Amino acid sequence: MPFNSPAQNANYYLDYQAQVESNARTYPRNLPLAIASANNIYITDTNGKTYIDCLSCAGALALGHNHPVVLDAIQQHLSQGLPMQTLDFTSPIRHAFVQELLASLPPAFAARAKVQFCGPSGSDAVEAALKLVKTATGRRSILAYQGAYHGQTHGSLALMGNLRAKSAIPGLMPEVHFLPFPDAYRCGATCNSTDAGCTAQHHRCATLERLESVLKDDESGVPLPAAVILEVVQGEGGCNPAPDDWLREVRRLTAQYRVPLIVDEVQTGWGRTGSLYAFERAGIVPDVLVLSKAIGGGLPLALIVYDEALDLWQPGAHAGTFRGNLMAIGTGLATLRFIREQNLASHAAQMGKYLRSQLRHLQTSMPFLGDVRGRGLMTGVEIVDPATHDRNGVSLPDGECARAIRKACFERGLIIELGGRQGSVLRFLPPLVITQEQIDAVVAIVAAACQAVSADQLHRRSVAP
Ligand SMILES: Cc1ncc(COP(=O)(O)O)c(C=O)c1O
Repeated sequence: MPFNSPAQNANYYLDYQAQVESNARTYPRNLPLAIASANNIYITDTNGKTYIDCLSCAGALALGHNHPVVLDAIQQHLSQGLPMQTLDFTSPIRHAFVQELLASLPPAFAARAKVQFCGPSGSDAVEAALKLVKTATGRRSILAYQGAYHGQTHGSLALMGNLRAKSAIPGLMPEVHFLPFPDAYRCGATCNSTDAGCTAQHHRCATLERLESVLKDDESGVPLPAAVILEVVQGEGGCNPAPDDWLREVRRLTAQYRVPLIVDEVQTGWGRTGSLYAFERAGIVPDVLVLSKAIGGGLPLALIVYDEALDLWQPGAHAGTFRGNLMAIGTGLATLRFIREQNLASHAAQMGKYLRSQLRHLQTSMPFLGDVRGRGLMTGVEIVDPATHDRNGVSLPDGECARAIRKACFERGLIIELGGRQGSVLRFLPPLVITQEQIDAVVAIVAAACQAVSADQLHRRSVAP
């Protein structure tokens, strides 16, 4: 029987999904899509409407939908009669994948690297990283950053900045301590300084001082941690890039106090931010690197790469049935080769710069587009209420307006998601293969959506009693 019975109207599928699937479902609530097919940066729904996909499966589709390189890898896999699942037995494809992975890393890291394939989600790879560093150091606490997103399992959820998802769950992993993350636009959000002239530079230094005092002060209240974990560009937290000099200082301090540094590149890895790995820009080398999303070429795959000095856990310490799905390893290998051969990281850098420059044009006539930021093809636009301001004169985030813009974009055929405080940041995560013409189409829709929302808001204000 064919998989695709004759397509019904999108509402038919959405209504059924709402009835039968979990209350915990997320994306279809705000992006009511029943997907019929997808190709490149486009998704077509069962009503025949086509959308530009700037969500890319939460950043997992580096090459977009059904890229020929990925399809070819799948076809080769099937025609050669290769197994789908192989636990952690080796094979020529797995061997080639690990070699290509190590070749893609800075030599200083690759030379001392060990690889652990994990259950196929970023969250499971974060769990593995936590177990690894706790075992190796014999310590129990972890330092994480406000605004962080590392997944939704009990350990990774405990590392999350956002309180919504974690507040309903008692008994998350204990002994996680949070530090403020640098925020060039809105340092007031996490900074305790009462100076009216508090600057991003000041905030950056303050966050480093906080880290150093926690690591060295025997009255800090925080035992020396098993690790510091961070994202180089916070994704779900609102597309916040960490400054290079800040990262170098974090690396210097963690090395000085012999605290392993876990860099979570689940979202940023493999070209997304304009370099193959986001940490490379700062010239640092982590102790543990967490990878997922793009590395499976669209199929589920996750792993950690870490310094051999940490390899003190025992056989079976992170066992799991679905570690290293062989087809995902094949599509991942093909994807990594393609990204490196085509230099898609530098394409992402150029396209991201172009996207942000176009969005900044819109900013000049739309004051609610508060901040346009990002690295490579990881771009965020923080939506603000221009009638308000904090003590530094920065307008306050406006999640309601951001939600209205997301909806207006969707109605016009563009899929974007939100992140950041109050969900006020429009997030653009297109496939790395997006072209300049396609970006023009994205920006034209954003412009039309923003105009419609702004006209609607003006109208509402004028008729308000
Ligand atoms: C930085 C980061 N870490 C971890 C995760 C969790 O990955 P997964 O959703 O595959 O569990 C995500 C997911 O968005 C992420 O962005």
